[in-house]
Amino acid sequence: MNGHAAVVARGGVLSAVGNTPLVALKNFMTGARFRLFAKLEGFNPGGSMKDRPAMRMIEQGMRSGFIRPGAVIIESSSGNMGIGLAQVCSYYGLRFICVVDPKTTQQNIRLLQIYGAQIELVAEPDPQTGEFLKARIDRVKSLLGSTENSFWPNQYANENNSNAHHQTMDEIVSAMRRKVDYLFCTVSTCGTLRGCSEYLRKHKLNTKVIAVDAKGSVIFNSEKTKRLIPGHGASVRPQLFRDDLANECVHVTDIDSVVGCRRLLRREAILAGGSSGAALMAVHHFQDRIRPGSNCVVILPDRGERYLDTIYSDLWVKEHFGDISHFWQEPDVNLDMASSRRPELQMVEV
Ligand SMILES: Cc1ncc(COP(=O)(O)O)c(C=O)c1O
Repeated sequence: MNGHAAVVARGGVLSAVGNTPLVALKNFMTGARFRLFAKLEGFNPGGSMKDRPAMRMIEQGMRSGFIRPGAVIIESSSGNMGIGLAQVCSYYGLRFICVVDPKTTQQNIRLLQIYGAQIELVAEPDPQTGEFLKARIDRVKSLLGSTENSFWPNQYANENNSNAHHQTMDEIVSAMRRKVDYLFCTVSTCGTLRGCSEYLRKHKLNTKVIAVDAKGSVIFNSEKTKRLIPGHGASVRPQLFRDDLANECVHVTDIDSVVGCRRLLRREAILAGGSSGAALMAVHHFQDRIRPGSNCVVILPDRGERYLDTIYSDLWVKEHFGDISHFWQEPDVNLDMASSRRPELQMVEV
């Protein structure tokens, strides 16, 4: 842009972003005639896959000169992207203003603050649409107008968001020795879906890509309704969306998210966030259409610690959905009544 492009010398914590583990899930779906693998994105240092696009959007902004020394980064986010940006801005000594709304959890606000982010709370939704998202974006725009040397990453439209996930897919493809038959990927900004899908097309791999959207989210044309679990889904279709990014879309409910998370914890001892449960239940709902013998990979976007008061609180679950614990406590009970059985523990004599 001008002569101010910064030299980006990445090291320290940012060199730990990416190269997350890919593990086999042998117990989550019993009786399945395909192999299931999970990419554990919660192992990124900021706790989610959003570390990747946060780092890329800031570093590319610095390289191109859009982010100059002393710049103020302003973004709307109530969760993982905010935390990823707070981490990367703190690392590069940039000021970060995170625009949040009353639905942002206290824990996330504390996390943002502890990384040094300044919190800008939008208290009321947009009067016309009733949406907080629109009100938050309007606040971002007004702050950009009143703040000198400011930069908006704009995660909903910035191709560095999706480009960051070429690497995610590259890691999966390498770990699987190119044998990935199905990829299940949750959507919100569509950065992950788009990045993975572009990579697969570029490398001429014929992996079937299954987008996992929330029921009540508009991205893949479900009728807009109130949703409780944050992370996946959106009330406005993001600019990164393209209608050729996925072969299929599976819509999942809030109950699916809870059941998927609780089953994952019980059957695999993995504590993951709401969209991870959603992605796994999408595999469950889609299982009859998966070719026997194939390899399925599911991206699990974040860890479960930030959901202790919701998904992992019996009280919260009961209050919102009634008593649904039989969906994960009794191995034979299934959401769609298909059979599911935990394998017997195999005792090996030593
Ligand atoms: C927990 C979680 N899952 C899934 C997603 C969706 O990812 P993307 O924005 O790349 O579509 C997000 C996005 O914020 C997220 O925070």
